[in-house]
Amino acid sequence: MKLRYLVGLSAVLLLSGSAWADDGEALLKKNNCSTCHNMNNKTVGPSLKAIAAKYSGDATAQAKLEAKVRSGGGGSFGSMPMPKAPATVSDADIKTIVSWILTLK
Ligand code: HEC
Repeated sequence: MKLRYLVGLSAVLLLSGSAWADDGEALLKKNNCSTCHNMNNKTVGPSLKAIAAKYSGDATAQAKLEAKVRSGGGGSFGSMPMPKAPATVSDADIKTIVSWILTLK
């Protein structure tokens, strides 16, 4: 009885865990961030893992990066600036994508 409960609970945790990850990743693709950002390799922009590594342990990263994606700019990874996110990208989407990027290792 107890075991069945635990198995059920871990299935729920697993499912909600992957739904969360898919959210950030799906939004990254939907909003065309993936044209310039790739998981492991630098393309036009830095890799998502490089971004996560740079801000690991930085408590202000979430707010800072949401603002940066919204208004664009350069100087963090090199001189190539990121264009500001188009108005069609919602603040909520940016929030979800940034918090997902910051969980990557
Ligand atoms: C046209 C190419 C391009 C697109 C599209 C793009 N980026 Fe970027 N992104 C860049 C470049 C170039 C940088 C490096 C900027 C720098 O060095 O400060 C960057 C940097 C970043 C950073 C790190 C910023 C910092 O200051 O360290 C985040 C987070 C990010 N992008 C998220 C996104 C998200 C989310 C989207 C989609 C809404 C997106 N990017 C779309 C090119 C792009």
